Amino acid sequence: MHDFGVGILGTGIYLPEKTLTNADLEKMMDTSDDWITRRTGMKKRHLLDDDKPACTMGVEAAKQAIRDANITPDDIDLIIVTTETPDYLSPSMSCLIQKHIHANKAAAFDINAACTGFVYAMTIAQQFIETGYYRFVLIVSNEGLSRIIDWKDRNTSILFGDAAGAVVVGRVKKGYGIRKSYLASFGDLGHNLTIPCCYVSEEDRQKRRKEMERTLWQDGSEVFTFAIRAMTDATRRVVEAEGKTMEDVALVVPHQANLRIINGAAKRLHLSDDKIAVILQDTGNISSASIPVALNFSDKKGLLKKGDIIVMVAFGGGLTCGAALLVWGK
Ligand code: COA
Repeated sequence: MHDFGVGILGTGIYLPEKTLTNADLEKMMDTSDDWITRRTGMKKRHLLDDDKPACTMGVEAAKQAIRDANITPDDIDLIIVTTETPDYLSPSMSCLIQKHIHANKAAAFDINAACTGFVYAMTIAQQFIETGYYRFVLIVSNEGLSRIIDWKDRNTSILFGDAAGAVVVGRVKKGYGIRKSYLASFGDLGHNLTIPCCYVSEEDRQKRRKEMERTLWQDGSEVFTFAIRAMTDATRRVVEAEGKTMEDVALVVPHQANLRIINGAAKRLHLSDDKIAVILQDTGNISSASIPVALNFSDKKGLLKKGDIIVMVAFGGGLTCGAALLVWGK
């Protein structure tokens, strides 16, 4: 159909300098390093200073990704930001980032598919590029979760951190890049993870402490069960659609929500540890930034070889889930 593929040309990340370890959390609430490590695999997370807008992380990640792709900000046709913590509803995070990186010719919009945002954005970018409408799309997954956490709620606060990951998507050689993707939403399960914004219901209020009405609330065990099922199913779908087996996959880059979720899905997929990118011990759950940050780490470690089959898979609020299979062609 086309004489080109659509793939990742460059990656960039930003992790704030300040960190919060399990030992720090022990001083803030009734928890322990032992509990957090056993139940989640996490050891530390990065936190952005309160006085900085979250878009500062995305700006740095975007600049790196543009450099890595060997293009200039003027080449960018479209900026898609995935975020659950926009600094403003308007201007969008993507317009804020556009301003700071001087991508003056770009169109820009935000999407919200929660932690699945990056997989959704990759699929959107693919459509624009395949049709020839755009040449270069910048995706920035920009998450400042520490801002929507109730730091007295030990069920959620231990899980999340701040970070941004960015990629430039564009044309690659035919046969490389995104080969298959699968996106799904389960709105009827949305009540299991909520972050009120411009409206707060009585139910939302009852689930939260007073004055904490716009914080993240979740039913951890419901989300946990959904996550393993959704990640397993989404991965199988894209691998089978491509006519491959799990044996053919070089690396799975999953959303980093809990090591037990990743291991649960890996067990069902008969996937060995060396084929899974895991960074959550150092980052916590960074929502939609999980996959681009983990991809960047894997690339820097030389784990991504040209021609490798990579599966990116995520789940999150909405509830949503999705996966994309790509042949690494950077
Ligand atoms: N420190 C110590 N104890 C804790 C604790 C903490 N931070 N948080 C909960 N506990 C306690 C509970 O109160 C409970 O005690 P009880 O047995 O006396 O009632 C016990 O530990 C077990 O709690 P439970 O909720 O069953 O733990 P869990 O093994 O399910 O782990 C989560 C909880 C939240 C880590 C886990 O359910 C999870 O990761 N869910 C998915 C969440 C997610 O991914 N959300 C983001 C989606 S993108």
